[in-house]
Amino acid sequence: MKKILAFTGSPRPRGNSTILLEHFIKGAKQNTDLYEIIDPYKIKIKYCAGCLRCNIIKKCSIKDDQWRGLSESILNSDIIVIASPIYFHHLTASLKKIIDRFRSFVNVRITETGLIHTPWQEWKKDFVLILSMGSPDDIEAKQVVELFEYITEILGSENKLHVIKATRVAMAKQIEKTSEELNSLYKKLKIPSFLSENDNITNKQVIKKCFELGEKLTTRN
Ligand SMILES: Cc1cc2nc3c(=O)[nH]c(=O)nc-3n(C[C@H](O)[C@H](O)[C@H](O)COP(=O)(O)O)c2cc1C
Repeated sequence: MKKILAFTGSPRPRGNSTILLEHFIKGAKQNTDLYEIIDPYKIKIKYCAGCLRCNIIKKCSIKDDQWRGLSESILNSDIIVIASPIYFHHLTASLKKIIDRFRSFVNVRITETGLIHTPWQEWKKDFVLILSMGSPDDIEAKQVVELFEYITEILGSENKLHVIKATRVAMAKQIEKTSEELNSLYKKLKIPSFLSENDNITNKQVIKKCFELGEKLTTRN
């Protein structure tokens, strides 16, 4: 059975991105019971100290936080899901703090022409980005997608990246609102309400995509 490790980046109790993750997990549960959801706001993870000792000792040297257990869960997973709102074109800071600690998974050598990254372990995972944003234009997620293209690449050529984006979802739980609910919300937000029907169809499609990707990635191959 495939093992999933998912991170929620939203500070909202049930943010749009977290709701989409729920649908991914629902799909995955067709094939696996092995999933863990990490709320970065609830665990103690310190900031990367930039000591670079990991380049020698092959692990992070920071003590007194939960990185050791978390890093084991990361390494033991088959699928890593990051479900986050876009905040100023990026992930929320709660997740960035964790991403920086990924430095300890690789050896980095400086050469004349650039950096050479060599992961300490073999990485062969599916990475899934589930991103929600207020803008109608998914260009807002460009930097996050590029960051993960980079991360998956330096961690090994066998990793795969999958991206699902929800646009024009600014308010809490907007992704699961009916077209009538969207209609009245759009009136309040002064968004042309004729958009609500189409947006509702798009939101449902994004939800379906999450379910289907969860199911597909956990199918035994
Ligand atoms: C601090 C902050 C910054 C934001 N920055 C952006 C942004 O750069 N682009 C965008 O499209 N939406 C932005 N948004 C809107 C959120 O991405 C949007 O509301 C998202 O759906 C929230 O997801 P959640 O419900 O999972 O928390 C921002 C919201 C906040 C609170």
